Amino acid sequence: MTVVLETIAAARQWVRTERTGGKSIGFVPTMGAFHDGHRSLFRRAREQSDRVVVSIFVNPLQFGQGEDFARYPRDFARDLALAEREGVDAVFCPEAGEMYPDALPLTVHPGKLGKTLCGPSRPGHFRGVATVVAKLLNIIQPDRAFFGQKDAQQAVIIQWMVRGLNFPVEIEVCPTVREPDGLAMSSRNAYLDSEERANATVLYRSLRRAEDLIRSGVRDVARIEQEMRDMIRSVPGAELDYARVVDPHALGDVKQIAGEVLVAVGARFGKTRLIDNLLAAPPRAVTSGQ
Ligand code: PAF
Repeated sequence: MTVVLETIAAARQWVRTERTGGKSIGFVPTMGAFHDGHRSLFRRAREQSDRVVVSIFVNPLQFGQGEDFARYPRDFARDLALAEREGVDAVFCPEAGEMYPDALPLTVHPGKLGKTLCGPSRPGHFRGVATVVAKLLNIIQPDRAFFGQKDAQQAVIIQWMVRGLNFPVEIEVCPTVREPDGLAMSSRNAYLDSEERANATVLYRSLRRAEDLIRSGVRDVARIEQEMRDMIRSVPGAELDYARVVDPHALGDVKQIAGEVLVAVGARFGKTRLIDNLLAAPPRAVTSGQ
């Protein structure tokens, strides 16, 4: 039976009791609307921990004006049933007032890491993510926390925050889960109509094209990025945000590929903004194993 914890005090008490019994805690922060990507995180957490806590909180701080906060899919009963089936021990689902009692909450700024890739089109987004994840990690105090590689920039920022602020937690970044045609699983895929859904496969196709070029020894980043941009722009109804090849740890510019890189894309399909990425390495390059 999955325990539902609605307050910070209840979550802390539950974790304290489990810890007193010697149990290790794995934590998966989410905004709900579970799909197979979430399920794979729950399973990994289950493998690595005695107890699994999942948070469900649609974090208002990480949505900008005009973004989809109000219509973000919410179905608590369905999510809870799935969590039960996956053997999640506790779901932490606070109200916004519980998480942000102050009108002007103290926030964590991701600096330069928040300014690239998704940063320019989502100002404030990563500040909201870093802030809520810092709070959730302090509330749950897990041994390990699990995030998806699909949100690569988010994962890099969280790892940087945890290192920089000495959070006593191990962060594990888990592989992206894809639909059979390659589309990365995302709660926002539910917004797509059938035409947009078909068009959205260009994201993964462009990443695979970049990966093929890199594996075949092409080192010129400008050429690879241009091919990805051309591919995405050639799809009617796809509005390119970015197609980049960057350093996988600092997200900085790369001109010539010498080791593992992060290939990342973002585009709009109708009103829906989707992102995707993969790690690619040239022949014989040493990889980080992420
Ligand atoms: O990836 C998400 O679902 C969210 O950004 C997170 C990490 C739960 C923070 O709200």
